[in-house]
Amino acid sequence: MTEQKATNVTWHEHKVSRAEREKIKGHKGAVLWFTGLSACGKSTIANEVDYLLNQRGIHTIVLDGDNIRMGLNKNLGFSAEDRAENIRRIGEVAKLFATSGTIVGTAFISPYKADRDKVRAILAPGEYVEIYVNASLETCEKRDPKGLYKKARAGELKNFTGIDDPYEAPEKPELVLDSDNKGIAELAQEVVAYLEQNGYLKA
Ligand code: ADX
Repeated sequence: MTEQKATNVTWHEHKVSRAEREKIKGHKGAVLWFTGLSACGKSTIANEVDYLLNQRGIHTIVLDGDNIRMGLNKNLGFSAEDRAENIRRIGEVAKLFATSGTIVGTAFISPYKADRDKVRAILAPGEYVEIYVNASLETCEKRDPKGLYKKARAGELKNFTGIDDPYEAPEKPELVLDSDNKGIAELAQEVVAYLEQNGYLKA
């Protein structure tokens, strides 16, 4: 639990309601929380979904691992504690965007179930859509676009998820994407179909 340090702070309700923001945009705000091993396809799929939704005039944004770690979270590493703080901050940022009526795609390994569940808990029911991008370690290691698995196997990179650090697969995600056997376009369509079928794409 991250403690509240500041005292003498008061929560302010905003004049424009969430429903009014969604009405103007014509769709719901939500957080599409992609989780999975490094190189499982999270970021690429989140970007493809972002593109498809954007083409339809839907307001979207993508928050992804490496980029956020170069800015907002540049003071965090890969210990369990830092990963928890990484996910906590992203969760709060995602919540702000969702409140604005935006569909947010987040692409972080987010290996710990407890950290993901805390994000789910700060969002309203239905607002958090957990999407498990399921690719085997073997597939990810074969792809290895950044050469990080190779480094981890060689012992040059410690605490690498899937090698010498844990990944806790979601138990009840809203959606599972089979990234071992299907391509990006098909998986992105599955996400869009889920959003359509569950009423996210209308206000
Ligand atoms: S998370 O565990 O805190 O959710 P995040 O998604 O932000 O991780 O960052 C993962 C990315 O950081 C990986 O895709 C990879 O490029 C890079 N990275 C560097 N070191 C590690 C490591 N030890 N474990 C996992 N990813 C790492």
